[in-house]
Amino acid sequence: MKALILCAGKGTRLRPLTFTIAKHLIPIANKPVIYYSLEKIKNAGIENVGIVVNPENFNDFKTAIGNGNKFGLKVEYIIQEEPKGLAHAVWIARDFIKDDDFLMYLGDNLILDDINPFVEEFKNNKELQASILLSPVKDPSRFGIAVVKNGEIIQVIEKPKEPPSNLAIIGLYLFRKTIFDGIKNIKPSWRGELEITDAIGYLINEKFKVKGHIIYGWWKDTGKPEDLIEANRKILDDNYIKAEIKGVIDPSSDLQGRVFIGENSEIINSTIRGPAVIGDNCIIKDSYIGPYSSLGNNVIVENCEIQNSIIMDNVKLLNLPYPIDSSLIGKNVQIVESQKKPKALRLVIGDMGKVEIVR
Ligand code: DAU
Repeated sequence: MKALILCAGKGTRLRPLTFTIAKHLIPIANKPVIYYSLEKIKNAGIENVGIVVNPENFNDFKTAIGNGNKFGLKVEYIIQEEPKGLAHAVWIARDFIKDDDFLMYLGDNLILDDINPFVEEFKNNKELQASILLSPVKDPSRFGIAVVKNGEIIQVIEKPKEPPSNLAIIGLYLFRKTIFDGIKNIKPSWRGELEITDAIGYLINEKFKVKGHIIYGWWKDTGKPEDLIEANRKILDDNYIKAEIKGVIDPSSDLQGRVFIGENSEIINSTIRGPAVIGDNCIIKDSYIGPYSSLGNNVIVENCEIQNSIIMDNVKLLNLPYPIDSSLIGKNVQIVESQKKPKALRLVIGDMGKVEIVR
């Protein structure tokens, strides 16, 4: 069995971050979103992984994942020139898949449940032509939706206005080569995309067995900033990060709860309350870093309070009058106090940035 992770697509709801980084590479607890999927794939005993990327983000993926060696995987990249839909992404990966069964993973989805039983069942039950992870949701019209009868999916619809069930397709699918017949037989949808949901619909119409595998654990489509902040909270909460101090803590600092401090980082006269993770080469001085904070590498924080936030590499935060909360701060950002006159906000913010100011 092979795995195919879909990471092309534009990530528009995460702009401006996605102008410079693919959404799948945004760190959650200091680890890119996609690393969690790669670990699950490895755990499921799959070795050959194809990652569908777009021409703009290809190099970033190569830098972050390379040939997959560090994960114990063999990774190949497939370039999708335009995001023409999930089924199109699978179609252009046909030379990589060949005649093998495959696990298809939407690269922006984070799933914490063990996926091994789902994979094992598909390996053992050759009658199944597809098996799809489903989860009950409150807002079914945002997802592909499945209707299940006696464990089998009897209908699938992409983002229905009037959902016939609350079981969402959550970004993990198992297929055999028959899915390519489905893809050959579908047309672009109302949103102009070749939908994998329609190709699954073809399998159902052809009376192939399609299993619905319902999970009740936490999962997230990390499409929006608040989803990433929630995912960061969940991962930090769930013991994915061990308490470990590699840096230097001065005697006037106080570490509370589960805290990870990276190499060469210095904590000076500060309180760090876990769960929290701080990367390498950071300086935290006269500050409070509260629960659910993830700070990347080379971050400098002086005289600030931070909680429930993702702060990426090379950020500088100095003397801020208000705590930073529920924020997502991209690489190389500086937010600093200034004594200059006039006493005013001086902002250099990229397109689609968002700043909320308290009075
Ligand atoms: O999040 C689960 C939902 O994902 C399912 O319920 C839907 O049935 C499924 O169609 C999908 O819907 P989205 O509209 O959320 O898909 P999105 O455009 O966000 O793409 C999902 C991933 O696939 C993302 O990592 C980008 C990648 N992708 C997307 C397209 C359209 C590609 O690699 N190529 C593409 O052409």
